[in-house]
Amino acid sequence: MRNCASLAGILLFLVTLALGAVVGAATGWAIESSVPKPAIPQAAGQCLAPPDVMRRFHMVMLKHTRDVTVREGDRQTAKGLSACVTCHAVKDASGAVVSISSPRHFCRACHDYAAVKIDCFECHASRPLPEKSAAVPSGADVAALKAYAEETTR
Ligand code: HEC
Ligand code: HEC
Ligand code: HEC
Repeated sequence: MRNCASLAGILLFLVTLALGAVVGAATGWAIESSVPKPAIPQAAGQCLAPPDVMRRFHMVMLKHTRDVTVREGDRQTAKGLSACVTCHAVKDASGAVVSISSPRHFCRACHDYAAVKIDCFECHASRPLPEKSAAVPSGADVAALKAYAEETTR
């Protein structure tokens, strides 16, 4: 009789455990999907590495490229910050590429979400620069310079 009671007890325990696991998994799911995620703008082409690798290691890659360029003087290393902001350029409603001052900028999509602050764009351009020209600046170049000056002295 005692054996029987403990067997029932064990069975009850196992059933509770199984139910708990099912309910836990279901609610776990619900909790995960209700957390807002950052809206990351799509890019075209192929990144340096798959998205999961980029998400985790882009800061390490950037600092490595910077060190190779600035400390070792190697300017051949292909993908600098200008490559990132060119492929990951985001346009506003008027079709103009946004700078880092816009919350829609690719780099801010996650950084704002994760409260990451970087100073890189105090020196580096945050969007593709117009082609450089050797000629005396024309009206358009001067306008671009003026816009740049206004942007950086914001
Ligand atoms: C005080 C100004 C300044 C700041 C701030 C700065 N950089 Fe730079 N960075 C430079 C200069 C100058 C070079 C050298 C450019 C050259 O000689 O070709 C450079 C080069 C680089 C390069 C290699 C060349 C290129 O254009 O991509 C990378 C990558 C880079 N920096 C990444 C970063 C990152 C990431 C940050 C932020 C964590 C950062 N930099 C912040 C000034 C700055
Ligand atoms: C030739 C174009 C290209 C270049 C250059 C490039 N990327 Fe990407 N990047 C992509 C594409 C395409 C994806 C895939 C995700 C997507 O569809 O936007 C991606 C994904 C990423 C992701 C993950 C985004 C996510 O959805 O989680 C990060 C972070 C990233 N890139 C950072 C960088 C950085 C930093 C650089 C410069 C060192 C860079 N990328 C250079 C095209 C590029
Ligand atoms: C998919 C989301 C995502 C995107 C897109 C993204 N970042 Fe980040 N970035 C992060 C997160 C999260 C961290 C903080 C990681 C940590 O603290 O361990 C970070 C950290 C960094 C750091 C290191 C900051 C520090 O204090 O050392 C640099 C530099 C950086 N990101 C540059 C960039 C640049 C440049 C871009 C745009 C080309 C970009 N990131 C786009 C998520 C992203």
